[in-house]
Amino acid sequence: MYDFDTPAPRAGTGAIKWDIRGSDFGNSRALPFWVADSDYMSPPEVVEAIRDAAERCVFGYTSPTGEYRRAVREWIRGRHGWDIDEGWIVPSTGIVSELSNIVRCFTSPGDKVLIQTPVYDPFAGVVKSAGRTLVENRLRRGEDGRYTMDLQDLERDLKSDVKLMILCSPHNPVGRVWTEGEVRSVAELCARYGALLVSDEIHWDIVMPGYEHFTAGNAGTEDNVIVLTAPSKTFNIAGLKCSNDVIPSDSLRRKLISWKENRHIETPNSLGLVACQAAYTYGGRWCDEQNAYIKENEGVTRRFLAERLPEVNVTPLEGTYLMWLDISASGVGSKEMCRRMTAAGAILNDGARYGDDGFVRLNLACPRSQLEAGLPAVERGYRLSEKA
Ligand SMILES: Cc1ncc(COP(=O)(O)O)c(C=O)c1O
Repeated sequence: MYDFDTPAPRAGTGAIKWDIRGSDFGNSRALPFWVADSDYMSPPEVVEAIRDAAERCVFGYTSPTGEYRRAVREWIRGRHGWDIDEGWIVPSTGIVSELSNIVRCFTSPGDKVLIQTPVYDPFAGVVKSAGRTLVENRLRRGEDGRYTMDLQDLERDLKSDVKLMILCSPHNPVGRVWTEGEVRSVAELCARYGALLVSDEIHWDIVMPGYEHFTAGNAGTEDNVIVLTAPSKTFNIAGLKCSNDVIPSDSLRRKLISWKENRHIETPNSLGLVACQAAYTYGGRWCDEQNAYIKENEGVTRRFLAERLPEVNVTPLEGTYLMWLDISASGVGSKEMCRRMTAAGAILNDGARYGDDGFVRLNLACPRSQLEAGLPAVERGYRLSEKA
């Protein structure tokens, strides 16, 4: 069994999640449950591969090798049942920067780009900073807290000359693993109305028992899809800046590659490539065990909240390690609630930044001891609001 219980020594290393607690949140001792990275160590196989590379003592210009491409292809085939050609892989240095490249490459200023809110906030950021028009298609929240797409509403929006849609799959922050039917419907609607589908699947390996991720790459609209993937969330290597676009269409792929070359946009750094290849070659069991650990952390949180804060409505977690909590019964906005929780000792994300005031997001990818120490602070912060 791999070890997820030992905390990684992160404070003082420049880790954003830990090191700006004092400067940005005013409580340098609060436990962090915000930035979406993990507080246990990366797989030993990945660390070993980086150590081996370091011992070769050369860090010159490097491009992705045939073995690298094979490792990415095999992971995608084995985990996600998508039989890709190695040539479809376009390595990139992070999903957000690549989304920005893609929006700028495939649309023009003023064009409409659709996202489904509430959603990871940089989606809106890349659209707006590129001077494109943001179309917000709202997800629907059911009585049971589970979110769904309103496909009729989506069709209406796509019909209005949307040029590109960004799908978040699995979805951060609402925790949905979209079903095959949902993904196929989105892909078909995009193809029918001429919107390029860009599917951000960075969380695709982090799926809870009983759920299965269906990649947009398998939806039968290969000429109209770009799938964005990365080992960064799964294996906690976001700082190494390595991700992979998968673009089956020759014309879309060529257009993006030449757009990036013309702007001198680089490929991933050498250690990122080493880590990605090792993770995809040796990381299967670690990934499975991590999913089981996250599921247990979810259970700990769910039981704690049911007992201590039953008024908090917990969104079902199908995928990702991010729990989406409805705190609207408190009558306090999520920004103020986060401020109070931080003061009490736990930093969570404010749901308003994703488009839903009344919610907070809690990161479960941490040693159980950290979670167990943080949950009472979440409760204290919530109760502070009752007194206010
Ligand atoms: C849906 C989604 N996309 C992209 C990212 C960030 O990716 P990157 O660090 O590769 O830019 C995150 C991080 O939380 C995310 O949740």
